Amino acid sequence: MKRMRVLAAALLAALMAVLPGCGRTSATPTVRVGVAVYDQTDTFISAITQHLEQMFQEEEQRLGVKINLSVADGRSSQSVQNEQVDRFLDLGCDVICVNIVNRTAAAVIVDKARAAEVPVIFFNREPVEEDLFRWEGAYYVGSPGAEAGRLQGMLVVDAWRADPAALDRSGDGVLQYVMLEGEPGHQDALLRTEHSIQTLVTGGVQVEKLESAAANWQRSQAAERMRQWLEAVEEPIEAVFANNDDMALGAIDACLEAGMTVEELPFIVGVDATAPALEAVRAGTLQGTVRNDARGQAESIVALSRALMGFEDVSEAVELTDGKYVWLSYTAVTAADVLSQAKPVGR
Ligand code: BGC
Repeated sequence: MKRMRVLAAALLAALMAVLPGCGRTSATPTVRVGVAVYDQTDTFISAITQHLEQMFQEEEQRLGVKINLSVADGRSSQSVQNEQVDRFLDLGCDVICVNIVNRTAAAVIVDKARAAEVPVIFFNREPVEEDLFRWEGAYYVGSPGAEAGRLQGMLVVDAWRADPAALDRSGDGVLQYVMLEGEPGHQDALLRTEHSIQTLVTGGVQVEKLESAAANWQRSQAAERMRQWLEAVEEPIEAVFANNDDMALGAIDACLEAGMTVEELPFIVGVDATAPALEAVRAGTLQGTVRNDARGQAESIVALSRALMGFEDVSEAVELTDGKYVWLSYTAVTAADVLSQAKPVGR
């Protein structure tokens, strides 16, 4: 069985480490890991991929094995990704990590993995529960979208409570907002949209939705939407909720292009805390974001892979919920947080 073979490789590696004269020679055992992502051009996914590449490389030293890592770009096509998973299984991968294109289509991949007895770790795009529970060798690593929505909502509630007039340009006591949503059907798009606004309502802020649209996580699509809204909507847009930072940056692009000054921008919030978004917070164009822990997710994927390949107990490697899920927390990032981290050069 696959797991036994990997375990044997692990034991051999451990033995070689204690035997004199047995360094990492041509006899170094090899394991294979396949990572399939939905779209490599996605800013957040490319950050996770980079962490994975670096961390799996570090694992080689730690475990004394050669890790053959292959990364495949699904280019937003489930059928392309299914073929990539087939190829990983044909190649003899010991574990596969899948950022699934269509989160309702995981059953096919779970069944293929089960037939080959190769554990599968889904990440960032959460399969429906029923599919994940088809086999004990299927897991999910991610962050709970509702929490991101709540934290994003709180950024706005706090600002409203501190100085309502700064947000309420029309002075009517109601916050007029637009919502830029991620891909339709993505759990983070649904949950962030719902919980951000719910948090405002329970926080006592009266809200009015002027517009909302899916911009598929993309800066250019969000900019296009925002351009249209700035022209078409008569009332001032007082806040922009973007399900991720790239779309928040797109909204900023459109507002600046339309001639607004930094002070005239609506109160714009995102999610992810990508490097360009943190720059925008520093510049005062983005009012806040919510850190989506790319590094933590990659660390958990690597730790779970290590365990599933037999190098460690799963319970020691990660904290599992319902035997299936590894959940990473989000954290809010305000301008004060970003500015307090900016260290003066030369000190
Ligand atoms: C991130 C988005 C990303 C999406 C991809 C979300 O969790 O916030 O930036 O585009 O995942 O699946």
